[in-house]
Amino acid sequence: MEILKTKADMQAWSKNKKKQSRTLCFVPTMGYLHQGHVSLMEKGRPLCDELVLSIFVNPTQFGPNEDLSSYPSNIENDLLLAEKAGVTAVFLPHKKDMYPEHFQTEIKLQSLPRHLCGKFRPVHFAGVATVVTKLFNIVMPDMAVFGMKDYQQLQIIRQLVLDLDLDIRILAGEIIREKDGLAMSSRNAYLSEAQRASALSLSRSLDLARELVAKGEKSSALLRSKIEALIHSFPETEVEYISFCRPETLEEIEVIETKVLLALAVKVGKTRLIDNVLINPGR
Ligand code: PAJ
Repeated sequence: MEILKTKADMQAWSKNKKKQSRTLCFVPTMGYLHQGHVSLMEKGRPLCDELVLSIFVNPTQFGPNEDLSSYPSNIENDLLLAEKAGVTAVFLPHKKDMYPEHFQTEIKLQSLPRHLCGKFRPVHFAGVATVVTKLFNIVMPDMAVFGMKDYQQLQIIRQLVLDLDLDIRILAGEIIREKDGLAMSSRNAYLSEAQRASALSLSRSLDLARELVAKGEKSSALLRSKIEALIHSFPETEVEYISFCRPETLEEIEVIETKVLLALAVKVGKTRLIDNVLINPGR
């Protein structure tokens, strides 16, 4: 497994592999890897000759009051997991290499970021879209894998690839959960024991909604109020949003008659957690 620390080295590595007609799959991350990240690598590994992982805590996607400075990190363990998953190159760029002085370009989508997390994190998705575009240009992959855990991010990347005519196939990985249902996240590391118990309110809400929709409930408003009550029955929780929306456009749905995305953001103590599920009322 090669470790590449500059854009120039990464680009040279990719160009060399391409010259040898080797196909490249790419998994971008911010590190502190867990089984969710590993599942994306495992999805990509058999599909290409080379598997590239990037680890970069991208400062431009954090708002001023967010957790950039405390974002967890464990590079040694990340490298072990990467090697085990069959990664052939790890890109570990420095902030200054990615954002040199006078950097001034931003990739901004018009409507997808207006929904869900974008409402509460106004700079987030421009930061994500910009860094992912840069990473795509540096790594030059044939395909890239993103997790459904960050569903809005996945949709934004799919749209960006379409809009900018990037010749990169985007694959989606299922949400990987702990045994009790909590979606894996690097941010789970912030939770105290009591908060970890309250964090279950998210996956429990998804289960509840799925059950009620299966029984014929169609009203988003009613479902939302039941979910809100469930979440607030757990200590230290504060709902940021509960959204029933169209899986493609992320526009709100009032009456659930077709496939719907239920997406949640909840603060547990100071930690902001997200989760989602696609629900098909026909099934
Ligand atoms: P990060 O939060 O490290 O996540 C990297 C990838 O892992 C994303 O595609 C995310 O959706 C996926 N992922 C996280 N938890 C998951 C889980 N429990 N199951 C399945 N997949 C999961 O997302 C980012 O980094 C950044 O925004 C990035 C795309 C790297 C741009 O900076």
